Amino acid sequence: MSHAVDDPEAGTQAPHLDFEGTTPYEDYVQADVLTHLQHPLSDDPGEMAFLVTTQVMELWFTLIVHEWQTAAQCLRQDDLPGAMAALKRSTYELSSLNASWEPLAHLTPAQFNSYRSALGEGSGFQSAMYRRMEFLLGEKSASMLVPHRGAPRVHAELEKALHEPSLYDEVLRFLARRGEEIPADVLDRDVSKLYQPDAQVETVWADAYAQRPEGEVVRLGEALTEVAELVWRWRNDHLVATRRAMGSKVGTGGSAGVAWLEKRAAKNVFPELWTARSRV
Ligand code: HEM
Repeated sequence: MSHAVDDPEAGTQAPHLDFEGTTPYEDYVQADVLTHLQHPLSDDPGEMAFLVTTQVMELWFTLIVHEWQTAAQCLRQDDLPGAMAALKRSTYELSSLNASWEPLAHLTPAQFNSYRSALGEGSGFQSAMYRRMEFLLGEKSASMLVPHRGAPRVHAELEKALHEPSLYDEVLRFLARRGEEIPADVLDRDVSKLYQPDAQVETVWADAYAQRPEGEVVRLGEALTEVAELVWRWRNDHLVATRRAMGSKVGTGGSAGVAWLEKRAAKNVFPELWTARSRV
């Protein structure tokens, strides 16, 4: 049972203070759990910013995956407004995700070195939720499951995601059902493999942009382009933050570091949406 208390300052009713157990806020948000998951590995006061920013990004990844799964499901049901709403929410969330770089975007090598060795072989490369995002974008890769063999739940979730159609697969199937000429081999492709750009898919987008610039296909194309651009921005902000913090040293995950990230950041999500633009 809870009691209302008076606020002597304002004379208005103040929030309830007494609860039998944990607060309803705690029961819903689990803030106590969330704020006790920070276990820095060094004594450096700057490490907490690295750890919490990484955790915050994991939460954004989780929400964005949820939105793209929602969008994919809506498209499966030919619910374009539902898909557009989920994509729109994801772009706001991607912008917030990208803004989260700020605490890590200005590290000097000495500052990063203060806790870098404590990270051992730990690397964002091992983020399973980031792979879930990539898989939804069509960037499938079975080898990305290998690091997670020792974590059954994570591995099972990733394996399921690998074999499910990506968001982009659902977009193309939706367009085909609406009469767009998406080739059969694209529709029947092995969805567990990396999506390969297709000339006819590019033509479908190019024709829609040229002939029906105000149409629904273009509105969907623009929502996806927004997503693609914001993912590209995350990758490039990550690249610049890495370049500032560690130059061209090898990564804690064992890669060549910046040189490897440069190649990854050069990729374009939803490739035909970019190449089609030259033909409009
Ligand atoms: C200044 C801080 C950071 C530095 C210097 C850095 C460095 C690196 C490097 C060198 C790699 C390449 C793999 C390796 O050899 O380790 C990498 C990959 C990665 N990092 Fe970071 N990172 C930083 C912050 C973050 C944060 C906050 C996240 C958020 C989760 C993150 C997520 C990732 C992901 C997802 C990859 C894999 C990218 C891909 O597969 O294309 N990184 N990082």
